[in-house]
Amino acid sequence: MAGQMARQLQIEFTALKDAGARKGRGAGGTLVVLAGSDLALGAETRRILGTGADLVKRAAATAKFQGQSGQSLDILSPAGLGFDRLLVIGMAKKEGAPDFLSLGGAIMGKIDSIAQVTLVFDPAETPSDVGRAGADVMLGMKLRAYKFDLYKTKKKDDDDKSSSKAAGKTQIAIALSDPASAKREAKRAEALADGITLARNLVNEPPNVLFPASFAQRAKELQKLGVEVQVLDEKALHKLGFRMLLGVGQGSDHESKVVIMRWNGAKSAKSKPLAFVGKGVCFDSGGISIKPAASMEDMKGDMAGAACVVGLMHALAARKAKVNAIGAIGLVENMPDGKAQRPGDIVTSLSGQTVEIINTDAEGRLVLGDVLWYVQDKYKPQFMVNLATLTGAILVALGTEHAGLFSNNDELSARLTDAGLATGEKIWRMPLGPAYDKLLDSKFADMKHVGGRFAGSITAAQFLQRFVNGVPWAHLDIAGTGMSSPSSDINQSWGSGWGVRLLDRLISDHYEG
Ligand code: BES
Ligand code: MN
Ligand code: ZN
Repeated sequence: MAGQMARQLQIEFTALKDAGARKGRGAGGTLVVLAGSDLALGAETRRILGTGADLVKRAAATAKFQGQSGQSLDILSPAGLGFDRLLVIGMAKKEGAPDFLSLGGAIMGKIDSIAQVTLVFDPAETPSDVGRAGADVMLGMKLRAYKFDLYKTKKKDDDDKSSSKAAGKTQIAIALSDPASAKREAKRAEALADGITLARNLVNEPPNVLFPASFAQRAKELQKLGVEVQVLDEKALHKLGFRMLLGVGQGSDHESKVVIMRWNGAKSAKSKPLAFVGKGVCFDSGGISIKPAASMEDMKGDMAGAACVVGLMHALAARKAKVNAIGAIGLVENMPDGKAQRPGDIVTSLSGQTVEIINTDAEGRLVLGDVLWYVQDKYKPQFMVNLATLTGAILVALGTEHAGLFSNNDELSARLTDAGLATGEKIWRMPLGPAYDKLLDSKFADMKHVGGRFAGSITAAQFLQRFVNGVPWAHLDIAGTGMSSPSSDINQSWGSGWGVRLLDRLISDHYEG
């Protein structure tokens, strides 16, 4: 899967004195420094700039730059400094804690394809944990640098015919006061970057390449990191009774699969696992209730929930998280066909409950219902969190700012909400209740699977709740955040990898150790 990181990035941490040492050596490359409000520079930054500080002052006055966050000052061929370019990044305090992830992303956006970069990470106001802040900057850089260009035959980087081995490579040295602690923290940042990259790649892949079997194969690669991976094929799923999930895939030429990933990192193998469940509809045409043609191509991303779960398992294993975790994904393709499921069909779910099919485009809940039931029954988890691009209605309600949270548990909800605020992957809790649940009553079966026109995201969640058997559970509807969300300092990709940082944070804040 190499190659999707367009530019090769090499980031290392060094001591501040080494950043200064390059000065005057004719090192070339770009020097990046940070400025607070009113152009405040850190003491080390001033030392490294020497007389160059005066240059910054004069250029800033002309450019009306005062260190505002989101702005920068670009000085080419700065006199007296051994660099080709001096970039001053504004990070004047805004409300809340400084966001070093976005800072790293913003810097990456400015340095783009430059080969040699030295960042003097010496903000005017020193963060309490410099190592962690430095690692966040690194993660932000990596996330910003991500590009999915696997299927572009003419890459911009190829135009660079320079003979240097470093062509297409960006080497970044982050100089800071505590490089040793930054190096320790960087292990976590690297694990997260790789997990998020994996999730983004899976979402961005086209549906002729990524279908249930090939997706399962990618999940199997986690075995290299020590994750146990089990793939249930259609034969096994039939035997177990996943009829509700299989009904969705029965119109597709691609065989449905369920993948169970296990990471056992807790001290005791017996400690109850956390469970993460993902919707993996590799392509959602709507089935017999076929979708309109406009933007149907986006439905290759209807597996963003499953992609997040795989990315999370990757991150947990790569950083050797001290937790037992299950990742379970239901992989299907929803297609119209002579063999496809019809509106009006009645299926028996793994739980034994019967379900009247109303609209075959409401397929995600059918997939998740069987996987949720299986996971609680087989693994007795502490909780289950599922992620799904489940409803268009959540986009109507919350746009692309927040994912929808639906839960039967206040503690889990609060913890998720906090992790959302800490990571910027924000969620908003929506209501559940008996009046909504009643909308699923069916004339012919135990329930129907669509509740009608109103409260579409809530009735979808009510349906899922009928398959969690009372286990603490949260459902994240990520239809607005998992794909096609607006680009940001740390994400320019269609598939965002949303949720990996959120859930990694939930785990590290409450369930490790
Ligand atoms: N995968 C879609 C939801 C979706 C829509 C995700 C837009 C991302 C962007 C889901 O399977 C679906 O089609 N839901 C229907 C449910 C309806 C038929 C009850 C919807 O939201 O319209
Ligand atoms: Mn659908
Ligand atoms: Zn769908």
